[in-house]
Amino acid sequence: MFSLPPTPEDPVFALNRLFTSDPSPLKISCGIGAYRDNSGNPTVLSCVKKAKEIIGAESQNEYLPIAGDAEFLRLSRELCFGDGSDLSNVESIQSLSGTGGLYLSLKLLKKLGCKKVYASNPTWGNHKSLTLNAGLEYSTYTYLDLSNLKTPEIDFKNLIQDLEGMQKGEGVILQACGHNPTGVDPSEGEWEEIVEVCGRKGLYVILDNAYQGFASGSPSSDSLSIRKFLSSSLDFLVCCSYAKNFGLYGQRVGAVHVVSSESKNVVDAMKQIARATYSNPPKYGSDIVKTVLGSSELREDWISEVGEMSSRIKSMRLAIREKLEEKTGTSWKHVTDQIGMFSYTGLSKEQVMKCREESVYMLDSGRISVAGVNEGNLERICEVIGKAVEE
Ligand code: LMR
Repeated sequence: MFSLPPTPEDPVFALNRLFTSDPSPLKISCGIGAYRDNSGNPTVLSCVKKAKEIIGAESQNEYLPIAGDAEFLRLSRELCFGDGSDLSNVESIQSLSGTGGLYLSLKLLKKLGCKKVYASNPTWGNHKSLTLNAGLEYSTYTYLDLSNLKTPEIDFKNLIQDLEGMQKGEGVILQACGHNPTGVDPSEGEWEEIVEVCGRKGLYVILDNAYQGFASGSPSSDSLSIRKFLSSSLDFLVCCSYAKNFGLYGQRVGAVHVVSSESKNVVDAMKQIARATYSNPPKYGSDIVKTVLGSSELREDWISEVGEMSSRIKSMRLAIREKLEEKTGTSWKHVTDQIGMFSYTGLSKEQVMKCREESVYMLDSGRISVAGVNEGNLERICEVIGKAVEE
């Protein structure tokens, strides 16, 4: 019968469960990457509220086509690549947020005969699980210089060397912006080199676009890497998530954009994978995104709200840095050098555990979600981190 060894829990959700069940009134979550406002509450964007009112009772519960809502996909493409880009080679399929898009993309790579997929070291933990689950081998390429986390820099020489060492037809997952967990992105010139090597080596490229708008505060500036790939003649895939930038975590809305002269055939193959997995995508989340992006007024509201979320995070970075420098007498400049939702603090696992004993939660890697920090809990977070690193 059902005889199985225990399955390890997912680290992000396990941490969230620990946080939720912690009875301490002082507990603070800097674990899961979900935006919280300055009072520590989840945010429903006002453009999303307005879109829900517009959709209202008219919302139908009919099936979407397997590829999803065509108008949502058109607007998603425009946002992803920027207005005015030549999208004649691009076809799209709606996905269950970024994770679902990666699932379809990796299953596609498997179908194409790809054997092995690489992600950055370190990366978001689910990249490995998704790759293995698609029946592919998983490996990593060098990303951050792990020898000195206080000066977080990409180890670009080794990153390029690792890309050069990959075989034609192997896959590579790159994060488009706001790298999770490090908060460190390649520069424009570095992206150009990455694009060149990926093209020359004949790699299957998947861009994981989970934080558009969160890195710089501007959705169009955050699509720099995607536009660099678009202006090359490469085939590639972009997996977009609307969890973070629209605050639609629970709606599972996303899209995969396929750039290729064969994009229609590729999307048809992905449709078959989707049909055999979940049949067709959920509707309400894409109705919301479509309503916001399709209205010039709501789109403006959205751009300013993403900007506000991003700048609140930036101001918390500065506050964390100042407080920790005051408490420890050492530099925490890396916290403000990094961008996006996360900061790779450089805390060891032992130090992370000390913080957890004080009910301050972060991932074992020392990653904090800066979105969990606010003016009310800043002092305590820094007090606890300061003590953990000094002991
Ligand atoms: C995270 O990294 O915390 C988020 O992307 C949530 C998740 O699904 O892991």
